[in-house]
Amino acid sequence: MIITTCGNSLPIAQQLAKALKVQYSPLTISTFPDGDRYLKYNLDVVGKTVIIVQSFQPHSNESLLNIIFAAETAKDLGAKKVILIAPYLAFMRQDTRFHPGEAISSRIMAKHLNNCIDKIITIDPHLHRYKSLKDIFIIPAIKLTANFLIADYIQKHCHNEIIIGPDGESYQWADEIAQHIKVHATVLIKQRFTSRHVQVKMVKPIPVKGKNVVIVDDIISTGHTVAEAAKQAKKMGAKSITAITVHGLFVENAMDKLKKAGVTKIISTNCIEHATNKIDVTPLLVAELRKER
Ligand code: R5P
Repeated sequence: MIITTCGNSLPIAQQLAKALKVQYSPLTISTFPDGDRYLKYNLDVVGKTVIIVQSFQPHSNESLLNIIFAAETAKDLGAKKVILIAPYLAFMRQDTRFHPGEAISSRIMAKHLNNCIDKIITIDPHLHRYKSLKDIFIIPAIKLTANFLIADYIQKHCHNEIIIGPDGESYQWADEIAQHIKVHATVLIKQRFTSRHVQVKMVKPIPVKGKNVVIVDDIISTGHTVAEAAKQAKKMGAKSITAITVHGLFVENAMDKLKKAGVTKIISTNCIEHATNKIDVTPLLVAELRKER
């Protein structure tokens, strides 16, 4: 077994290699003068299982192309098996054609990966209209969750807390975490007008006044969703507001937006490298990869 990356997730890849006592060798990826991609393995992969560790952020489009090049090259060089570990799997939110003529990006991404890798392992993929990864992957597709790691973090660092999921889909995180640590939770209803304009409403009220509110979501991208939930919580008398996310994309001015909306603390897992990383998902991946040996 060898572990490689296409540029993202280096710390996770290195930790995995260390924990599993296998060789780690990053790929050389650059561009020719005309912009064409250049990719090279720096280790012999013949007969080996090649583990590509690559979150799809930053640079989701580049990441997909790099993974395809890396997987195809590994096979071409004689690798026995290629496994992709994508702590963050992008394109999953475009799971239907919302407007005529649109690409269903998640299906296209999966179709390409189905063609070149043998197995995918990911963490808390955005499953909304799809019931499972099997809806788009024909290769073995393993979905891990950071829920219990997040629950542990909340137990250690928060008190007198309630959990809020900022939209319908977030029940997968908010409810499970709340049940685990035995605190009240509610999930808001979100109406999305555009990528940058959402509204949320609390339809199942729980006591918020004087509580330390923890808003949990799988993804914080522009920050609008969590910011709207935070504004609600603030209006309802929350004592403090912490936002915890599995995948902290924090694009545009998300961090400022969250702070302006009253979020006092922003925490993420290291599925995507960011200054807010406080929850390490590597143990989940080590446990999963041990099954391969
Ligand atoms: C979508 O439903 C996801 O679970 C997140 O709520 C969403 O991606 C967050 O996006 P943004 O931070 O741009 O509001």
